[in-house]
Amino acid sequence: MSTNPAPASNPYGYFDDANREYVITRPDTPLPWLNYLGQDDFFGLCTNTAGGYSFWRDAKLRRLTRYRYNNVPMDLGGRYLYIRDAATGDVWNPGWKPMKTALDRYECRHGTGYTRITGARDGIETEMLFFVPPGETLELWRATIRNTGPVPRKVQIFSFVEFCLFEALNDMTNYQRTYSIGEVEVEPGDGAIYHKTEYRERRNHYALFGCAHPINGYDTDRDAFVGVHNGLHEPQAVLAGKPRNSIAHGWNPIGSHFIELDLKPGETREFAFVLAYIDQGPDSPENPKFTAPFVINKTKGRAIMAKYRDIAAVDDAFARLRATWASHLSAFQVTDCPDPIAARMANTWNQYQCMATFNLSRSASMFETGIGRGMGFRDSNQDILGFVHMLPDRARQRILDIAATQLSDGTCYHQYQPLTKKGNAEIGGDFYDDHLWLVLSTCAYIKETGDRAILDTPVGYADKSGSRDTLLHHLETSIAYTMKQRGPHGLPLIGHADWNDCLNLNCFSTEPNESFQCAGDVKGSIAESVMIAGLFLHATRELEALYRWLQRDTDAARIAEQHATMLDAVETHAWDGEWYIRAFDAAGKPVGSKTCGEGKIFIESQAWCVLGGAGANNGRARQALESVHKHLYTPDGIILQQPAYSTYHLNLGEVTSYPPGYKENAGIFCHNNTWIHLGWCQLGEGDRAYEYYLSICPAAKEQQIETYRCEPYVYAQMIAGRDAATPGEAKNAWLTGTAAWTFVTVSQGILGIQPTYDGLRIDPCMPKNWPGFTVRRVYREVEYIITVRNPSNLSKGVARLTVDGREITGNVIPAAPSGSKIMVEAELC
Ligand code: BGC
Ligand code: NOJ
Repeated sequence: MSTNPAPASNPYGYFDDANREYVITRPDTPLPWLNYLGQDDFFGLCTNTAGGYSFWRDAKLRRLTRYRYNNVPMDLGGRYLYIRDAATGDVWNPGWKPMKTALDRYECRHGTGYTRITGARDGIETEMLFFVPPGETLELWRATIRNTGPVPRKVQIFSFVEFCLFEALNDMTNYQRTYSIGEVEVEPGDGAIYHKTEYRERRNHYALFGCAHPINGYDTDRDAFVGVHNGLHEPQAVLAGKPRNSIAHGWNPIGSHFIELDLKPGETREFAFVLAYIDQGPDSPENPKFTAPFVINKTKGRAIMAKYRDIAAVDDAFARLRATWASHLSAFQVTDCPDPIAARMANTWNQYQCMATFNLSRSASMFETGIGRGMGFRDSNQDILGFVHMLPDRARQRILDIAATQLSDGTCYHQYQPLTKKGNAEIGGDFYDDHLWLVLSTCAYIKETGDRAILDTPVGYADKSGSRDTLLHHLETSIAYTMKQRGPHGLPLIGHADWNDCLNLNCFSTEPNESFQCAGDVKGSIAESVMIAGLFLHATRELEALYRWLQRDTDAARIAEQHATMLDAVETHAWDGEWYIRAFDAAGKPVGSKTCGEGKIFIESQAWCVLGGAGANNGRARQALESVHKHLYTPDGIILQQPAYSTYHLNLGEVTSYPPGYKENAGIFCHNNTWIHLGWCQLGEGDRAYEYYLSICPAAKEQQIETYRCEPYVYAQMIAGRDAATPGEAKNAWLTGTAAWTFVTVSQGILGIQPTYDGLRIDPCMPKNWPGFTVRRVYREVEYIITVRNPSNLSKGVARLTVDGREITGNVIPAAPSGSKIMVEAELC
């Protein structure tokens, strides 16, 4: 099975490319290494020691199982099996935790939508395969227990989950209430434990934890099973080899099945556990809304148990999962890629991470608790850029959902709850970049699909109930808002912050101890953002091209004029001599300028001014990127700004609150690195783009994994910069805009397969020593096999393009009938 054995320098694991798996070979990884289960509505976090939790749609409002963040030890609580040797009383977990009994063999394979953990001890091997079948609101744990030894064995198995009372915040804070509301029902003959706690007046859902194997007992009360003074590493029922058959009344409901197995030498038992969310309304006819006492309708639960008692049904569900993922990933696959690191990231892990960020935005990871943030307006729009090629219809719906949280003046709810799709009023708007990202996601969607009808789709504004405008009107509202909200230099006001949430420029003072005036609601503040200006330049170019494609030349010209006005402001006021200034604070002083003591140069304004077309004709674009190279680039990635702020500054806000080298204060914020990668591609510098690409690529960190610590298969939001005490250390893995943007970089920038309104454009920008590569791309229901050759060692410039053997002019492949297969050959020379 294993194709790429662990290099000696990574003692924790290796990539199995053929199976699209990351194989972890010892459980004590530098940090818990996470995977996600689920792709549609039901999700689970699953670490390499089976830690994590599950929820339906919304990690805050519909959480099925508990997880204590920041626990000691880290990552405790999850999907546990305890295996007990009835003869000796020896107990262990196949995923090592929570008992941490030494295992003779341990392996965790994180794959696309599943995790397979195998643990063996003393002749008993247990394999657990965790996954969520496509389209179902449940997860399966497929268990295989094998006696690999020469003598018969009596094995006792205890399963374990701790239920969350659905509302996660209440569950972890309001014990005066929650300790009195827990309710369960058990159907031992069916192996079914039903958890039904909810506010009685609106109970319309329940959780089911079932075991498809006949059970010999159960527990549903945590105190009975674990013991009030015991930990999960010493549950009293397990140590005693005896369940209590407890029924929880309040306190802490859990689910535990007890199974006794007599295993002959060589004998194997295979069966599944199921953890399901069952929704009974509010629209369902079976919804017993407002009935009390509450009796759940178990029809659906029983049907699930009946179905998955058959192991063939479990295997069939897993086969469907594998096929689903093969299909998702097949829209973009590169072969003959000269670097296996880029290939494994582009073909599997980068796209896989894009699905996670699309589904979960920044809500639930090892660093996001699922209760703080829902879907981010700015984040989710960017997530679409790396996802739209996989499932364009889902991207379409998401764009419309996001747009509906825009306010009629152009601003947006910064975040919204996935369950209700309503803006979260607790988190202020006033991020004056948010609305512009909607232009980027919409244009990316139309370039991918050609679906111009989305622009005419009516979408409401969050503050105007009943009235709706077209999506195109929303885009116009966004552009108009930025034009309206400009400061003394004609640059966009920053509001509370722009993309850099920590750049809070609204205090009219530079010294903490001086009396200062803080524009709390940002109204009246004149602080301006050059980054938003650059983003606006880019967004207006996108919109202008869209209008040209729609043959609405007057509108295109109007937008082009606004672009020109902003460009003029940028070139007149934002050039600092060798780079673009980052912002002007509330006192009108520059931020990110050579005149500043610290924070002289920032990354974001260089990136967005270049991507927006500033500096194209006067050499500034190249000079800005050269300045990034000189002042910000390191082998671990590009630092956000330099020099790091050594003290707090009221007029700059949270950015100066971090210790030097971390997060927005001179950390390597991977997300914004990708924009510079694209900038180098725009300038034709393939070697630079690729060197930079590798500098933050997790798969390239295997050699320094003890320093890097996070998962080597997914991007982290942040790597500590050179000013930090722990340079090179990654944090906030998984849910980061780096995923989507890197996929844009590698697929459209480096490999150069670019969707345009008129068709696929082929315009790679690669390392000069790459001889070429082949990409399979499914685009507008046409399969393209694109072979790129680079006989003259160039980075950019397709000189010859043939489509099905016929040479065409230009580098955009003309449209083809859906269902066709087109062979494309491109040559750089
Ligand atoms: C972090 C940002 C994050 C923000 C969210 C800040 O503390 O540094 O990266 O986006 O919180 O509110
Ligand atoms: C993380 C947030 O999710 C994102 O929206 C923001 O742009 C970055 N932090 C930078 O502050």
